[in-house]
Amino acid sequence: MTDHVRVYEVGPRDGLQNEAGFIPTARKIALIDLLSRAGFEKIEATSFVSPKWVPQLSDAAEVMAQIARAEGTDYAVLTPNQRGFEAAKAAGADEVAIFGSASEAFSQKNINCSIAESLERFAPVAVAAKEAGIRLRGYVSCVVECPYSGMVDPQAVRDTAFAMREMGCYEISLGDTIGRARPEATLRMLEAVVEYVPAQALAGHFHDTSGRALDNVAVALDMGLRSFDSAVGGLGRCPYAPGAKGNLSTTSLIAFLEQRGFYTGIDITLLAQAEALVASLAPGSQAKVAP
Ligand code: HMG
Ligand code: MG
Repeated sequence: MTDHVRVYEVGPRDGLQNEAGFIPTARKIALIDLLSRAGFEKIEATSFVSPKWVPQLSDAAEVMAQIARAEGTDYAVLTPNQRGFEAAKAAGADEVAIFGSASEAFSQKNINCSIAESLERFAPVAVAAKEAGIRLRGYVSCVVECPYSGMVDPQAVRDTAFAMREMGCYEISLGDTIGRARPEATLRMLEAVVEYVPAQALAGHFHDTSGRALDNVAVALDMGLRSFDSAVGGLGRCPYAPGAKGNLSTTSLIAFLEQRGFYTGIDITLLAQAEALVASLAPGSQAKVAP
């Protein structure tokens, strides 16, 4: 039997959070609806964060209210604190993600607190998610390198990932936030993390600044990971990670996985339509894609 790999689509969140202009809500919904039809098991739709920090996703509640939900798809959102969690729950999110870091400097820039403080903020979110029956995912950013403080100790990644696992995250996504990780460094980091968290509970989240994202996926596959984040059209940067380019493109990831004999279950014709929609969002684009 072909081994299944989960492709976790993060474009509507990680992609659109750093667009120069505000993407109209109707376009975001059209994109998510196309992705739903393409058969993703997980779509990260938006974030319930401060609109002062990320104005691009200030329409999170409207997006969640108006998407056409597909059976078999979980709609996930980022929740940095309890306030975000309450809003996500009210919006009917199937899954919420807490997002921390292995770098103190990045933690301060991204969520305005230390790593230890962030874990204190996440703990009540984890409890509330469990009580509400909402799945909890965790992110660790800067798993290899931080844009502010340089190389990151693999043990710091391991410790944050372990803390999230202990809080009840079913999966922890390991973020190469600035997309510069070399596969050898990714391997060293994964070897440290799997000492505490099993590979089946880890996902790879590789931005593709240096063009090595697929090499990092290959290393992670060899380590036993079977879940990877990617963004339609290669969208995505982090607003608090200068220099970060797009996420690994979903189409490239699927092609790579299929070449290696893995099965993803995604309809690539519908995915191509979603990519065309993304292209039409580019400033100055003449592309006409409904609506
Ligand atoms: P803060 O300023 O320290 O917190 O921000 P605060 O509690 O003092 O709140 C400040 C203001 O935000 C207040 O409003 C709050 O009410 C409001 P004011 O009184 O000034 O009018 N507020 C909120 N509003 C809506 N929803 C909320 C919420 N919480 C507070 N949930 C905070 C702390 C975490 C809120 C802020 O720093 C923030 O929102 N940061 C978001 C950063 C972010 O979204 N970054 C991008 C996602 S992470 C990423 O991309 C990496 C990833 O892809 C993996 C990888 O690549 O590595 C996941
Ligand atoms: Mg990211």
